[in-house]
Amino acid sequence: MNTTYTPMLREGSLTGKTVVITGGGSGLGKAMALTLLRLGARVAICSRNEEKLQKAVAELRAQSGNEEVMYAVCDVREQEQVDAALEKIRNEFGDFNALINNAAGNFVSPTERLSSRAFDVIIDIVLRGTKNLTLSAGKYWIANGIRPVSVVNIVTTYAWTGSGYVVPSAAAKAGVLAMTRSLAVEWAKYGIRFNAVAPGPFPTKGAWERLLPGDLARKFDPAARVPLRRTGRHEELADLVAYLISDYSGYVNGEVITIDGGEWLQGAGQFNGFEAVTPAQWDALQQMLKSRKK
Ligand code: HXC
Ligand code: NAP
Repeated sequence: MNTTYTPMLREGSLTGKTVVITGGGSGLGKAMALTLLRLGARVAICSRNEEKLQKAVAELRAQSGNEEVMYAVCDVREQEQVDAALEKIRNEFGDFNALINNAAGNFVSPTERLSSRAFDVIIDIVLRGTKNLTLSAGKYWIANGIRPVSVVNIVTTYAWTGSGYVVPSAAAKAGVLAMTRSLAVEWAKYGIRFNAVAPGPFPTKGAWERLLPGDLARKFDPAARVPLRRTGRHEELADLVAYLISDYSGYVNGEVITIDGGEWLQGAGQFNGFEAVTPAQWDALQQMLKSRKK
């Protein structure tokens, strides 16, 4: 993450927002935390590894100049731990009014090689974890009349295309997307908005180590699959999420916003592979077609 870039929104745009970010101690979650802090939000990050969270809090304070960042340890798979973490956050920061469900687990594997437990562990982190946070926070927001609230769920484009070799993750992210769209309608009456963001490839240690192990990163260069021929920059995602958290997006509800340089559509358009046809080949083809017409 470029720690010196200027966020898209004006300074102070997120004053009054208190945001909980699961998995906020590393990768994209940490990048979002930095941008939100720079814009004046208070941020609570949570995940399993306390040492990592402590280090992240110190770095985020130093990089943002905003002291209002705390952590709470929890495994999102465990409802009791989630409830306790949210209670700790309320005790320190008061009521929070935004949630980013970003924690995830993933690895690549032929599906027939997965144990039942391996499949479950991904579903539990991604889908059950998102449910645990959403239900716990949602009940509190509704019972206490806290509004407006913004929830952003981090999915990915294979939530709707599906993808081999990451089947538990695809199934879980599809469930998260369905939950996003369902609650966007059901809980709008309580002033709670739900949106999802679907990133394409954004280099992070967590994702690259698990999805492109060994020499797969060289053999399957993610940038080469993207029409814009590059991977995403963390600050590009963070700016988008900051907008969805802010009141500027107050009428955006139930949307999934893709930020992938055109990657998934590249695979979807049947003739997109014609990118490989050279200008000389096009000249020859057109001449052939024209002469046939004559
Ligand atoms: C097959 C595997 C495996 C692998 C673990 N397992 N890794 N099976 N291939 N590479 C199996 C284990 O053998 C075990 O099953 C079961 O999964 C649980 O493993 P544990 O190590 O006990 O689980 P745990 O300690 O809870 O760790 C969870 C984890 C780990 C998911 C396995 O990788 C993790 O903590 N990940 C968190 C961060 C993360 O994954 N970040 C990437 C997000 S990227 P058995 O039967 O042996 O007990 C992302 C990008 C999406 O989501 C889109 C990209 C475009
Ligand atoms: P990452 O750094 O590995 O982030 C995953 C985070 O989730 C970690 O901070 C981890 O912290 C936390 N986590 C995992 N299991 C948890 C659990 N059981 N309880 C609580 N926290 C848990 O990877 P990333 O690339 O930044 O991914 C962030 C999000 O972006 C994920 O939702 C991912 O699916 C999505 N995404 C990423 C990409 C990409 O290219 N990077 C593309 C599409 C979507 P602990 O280990 O401390 O628990």
